Amino acid sequence: MAVFITGGAGFIGSHTCVEMLEAGYEIVVADNYSNSSAESLERVKKITGKDFPYYECDIRDKEGLARIFDAHKIDAVIHFAGLKAVGESVAKPLEYYDNNIGGTIALLEVMREKNVKTIVFSSSATVYGSENPVPFKEDMKTGGTTNPYGTTKYMIEIILQDLCKADPEWSVSLLRYFNPIGAHESGLIGEAPNGIPNNLMPYIAQVAVGKREKLSVFGNDYNTPDGTGVRDYIHVVDLAKGHVKAVARAVSVKGCEVFNLGTGHGVSVLELVNAFKEANGIEIPYVIAPRRPGDIDNSYADVTKAWEILGWKTEKTIVDACRDTWRWQSGNPDGYGN
Ligand code: NAD
Ligand code: UD1
Repeated sequence: MAVFITGGAGFIGSHTCVEMLEAGYEIVVADNYSNSSAESLERVKKITGKDFPYYECDIRDKEGLARIFDAHKIDAVIHFAGLKAVGESVAKPLEYYDNNIGGTIALLEVMREKNVKTIVFSSSATVYGSENPVPFKEDMKTGGTTNPYGTTKYMIEIILQDLCKADPEWSVSLLRYFNPIGAHESGLIGEAPNGIPNNLMPYIAQVAVGKREKLSVFGNDYNTPDGTGVRDYIHVVDLAKGHVKAVARAVSVKGCEVFNLGTGHGVSVLELVNAFKEANGIEIPYVIAPRRPGDIDNSYADVTKAWEILGWKTEKTIVDACRDTWRWQSGNPDGYGN
């Protein structure tokens, strides 16, 4: 059985390609390399010793997608392709709605035309907004997103739910990721952000490698044990394995299901800084800075449903993630070098 992976050259996509190949699936990848390069896919081949086809294709290009579906017998899709920078989405809302929503609709139209009606979608914990108490549970109210990026995730969830209501042949898995960090333990693939990283772990990694002087901790007066923001950091390899389980479930059960993919544990900014030191013996200099607009105090998952239905839970620790991040960052200080 072959699974089509959009955005497969990206951070989470490349790790998922590895886990899908190692689980015995055939994969076909498409990416427009707007935030990645084909080098990550070459490294996936190196890690797994397996070959697979990949295409440079924008998911908004329906003819390009149709050619790929015609060339391969595709049974299911994992849909990662999208833009993901929160700040940029505030400045460029049209680009975000066009790419993320327009791209998803183009993909779904081609899937329907080719009678492939199984899709696993990359959603985000951001859809829980700022009003819900932690831990976040799948049946809580969603919405109240504060930026166009988050709103695209919320809207795509609704589009996919409506599609399942309209046509019971569809199988949709909405995976709400918490905060993915870490890298493959080979050190060959990892997160390669463009410019100044927005997210905490890549910023810490760039301080450690000497690219940035110090970390700014955004606020220490939150309603958390040490005052710094608490998040649910999940190792990207655990997250990738969650996709293998979600695909297996989606091909056997019709309708729309939602799963949180997180560890179920909250970790503060300062705890993550300390875990990095524990894992790698590297001190991360930091200063306390003002809060970042839009940030919430606490975000972590209730992971009961993924365990009960998918039989999936995380296995790696944040110290593992810090060690693996450093192996990737120190071996590839300029990412994939593009
Ligand atoms: P990423 O930027 O590394 O990967 C996304 C990939 O999609 C990139 O390779 C990019 O080139 C590609 N892409 C973007 N637009 C495309 C288009 N129109 N056509 C074809 N390819 C396109 O990001 P990631 O961290 O791997 O995230 C993957 C998915 O998970 C995204 O949808 C993201 O919004 C979602 N997500 C990420 C996080 C996170 O913290 N990393 C959290 C929650 C959800
Ligand atoms: C951010 C996005 C969210 C997105 C998620 C993807 C914002 C407001 N939210 O969430 O929509 O789904 O990434 O993973 O951008 N921090 C610092 N210093 C830094 C960077 C971060 O102190 O240089 C703190 C933040 O205040 C937060 C924690 O570290 O408490 C984690 O931040 P980050 O990695 O950006 O993730 P989220 O805020 O959860």
